[in-house]
Amino acid sequence: MTTQLNPKGAQNTACSACLPTAASQPAPLTPAEEIARDEQALLKIESEVCSWGDTVHYAEKPLFFQRCEGSYLYDSYGRSFLDLQMWYSAVNLGYANKRINDALKKQIDTLPQLACQYLHKEKVALAQKLVASIQRGFKAKGRVHFNVGGAQAVEDALKLVRKHTGKSRMLAFEGGYHGRTLGASAITSSYRYREHYGEFGDRAEFIPFPYCFRCPYGKQVDSCNLFCADQVARKFEHEYTGWWNPKTNKSEFGAFFVEVLQGTGGYMSAPQGYFEKLSSVLSERGILMIDDEIQMGFYRTGKLWAMEHTGVCPDVIVFGKALTNGLNPLSGIWAREELISPDKFGPGSTHSTFSSNSLGTATGLEVMRVFEEGSYDKIVPEKGKYFLALLKDLQGKHPEIGDVDGLGLALRMEMCEADGYTPSRRLADRMFQRGLEGNLNVNGQTMGLVLDIGGYNKNVVTLAPSLEITYQEMDLAHDLLDLLISESKKGM
Ligand SMILES: Cc1ncc(COP(=O)(O)O)c(C=O)c1O
Repeated sequence: MTTQLNPKGAQNTACSACLPTAASQPAPLTPAEEIARDEQALLKIESEVCSWGDTVHYAEKPLFFQRCEGSYLYDSYGRSFLDLQMWYSAVNLGYANKRINDALKKQIDTLPQLACQYLHKEKVALAQKLVASIQRGFKAKGRVHFNVGGAQAVEDALKLVRKHTGKSRMLAFEGGYHGRTLGASAITSSYRYREHYGEFGDRAEFIPFPYCFRCPYGKQVDSCNLFCADQVARKFEHEYTGWWNPKTNKSEFGAFFVEVLQGTGGYMSAPQGYFEKLSSVLSERGILMIDDEIQMGFYRTGKLWAMEHTGVCPDVIVFGKALTNGLNPLSGIWAREELISPDKFGPGSTHSTFSSNSLGTATGLEVMRVFEEGSYDKIVPEKGKYFLALLKDLQGKHPEIGDVDGLGLALRMEMCEADGYTPSRRLADRMFQRGLEGNLNVNGQTMGLVLDIGGYNKNVVTLAPSLEITYQEMDLAHDLLDLLISESKKGM
């Protein structure tokens, strides 16, 4: 049986016979008590009518939020929470960004709905900007194909690869994350996401990512000479290393799905030269490189596309999330002309009712204009450098921070035992939960901190602040993290 709410959100549980008499009337509730009562009632309903299969119940006490602005979320009590993960990097230009919101509102008043079999000018203009940005960054000619969510765009990339190569087996990285539809799960490394859904015959072959703080080969980055990239090349050496038939010059793999900087895997980037080496191995063997920019694209790392840091031109780029600053969802792929030209990828190759939705394309177009007009390639690296210095300062104070690193405003802080190396998931968990309590006191202010935890050992604080974060807010983040770590490690 579900509990019903009255219009004010309170439970209808009392019967008239048991209403209190005037003499025993309880004291009226304070506004805070009313909010607590209403949220408790909603939580009870949520626990009965909402599936627990999403990520809400990762938190010990799921939170309600009521408002958002800039780098902050606000709960119903009016408490502020500094957000250092910005909806897993979907809101790069800050919450409630007026210019982006206005573009969406304008579109609502002009062409809010349109079946995607018809054209509207914002779609074409957005595709043009995306294509031009990739032509500038990689000197490659191609086309864009839109969809709705990130995993859907990954599915489209998989179809494109299958169509072009005739192969359904893929390579991907250990720690790689590409979404949770069945196709995307097959190339996502975590077994936990596949475990209960049958055999994945087309599961990717997972290759160690250059996770230099914990090198899977026990090497040191300053002397390894990219040993891990050589290990990929070695798999093609002869037929008994498993990936290559020298008689037919064929491999069974169609493509390698990569993230330049692993998102869910823990915000670590490969050392210089790694992707160049990998790319030459793949192109020698006729294997496509698919660059998943869903989390790291749109200036998160200081360049529009994270792959621009490497000098490698991928065959396909997959994007989503921050394209619309977290408003109407829109995702897509860009592919080289020879893969996606109309004769190769004809009408109806993929389709979703809401792909290239007009609200998403208008919003995405405005986001691209903001990026074109700003100097994010300068501002983001500068802010990233400042934030990283603050994290290094924290590392000096807390030996439990084993590693800090960053590229632009994608930063990592790896939480360990006091030895600075043994991963401490418990400490990271405590920090995550404590931040959500909303009552950290620093510099005369009381607030909460929104963090995300990732990494192979679930011990990495993965920081993706707004690209518009101020220097004052970064200082505040430092002080909040300092307090949070001090409190969380007590009694461990
Ligand atoms: C790198 C990467 N690829 C794919 C996805 C899946 O995107 P979505 O959650 O929109 O399906 C994500 C989401 O976090 C991601 O970070």
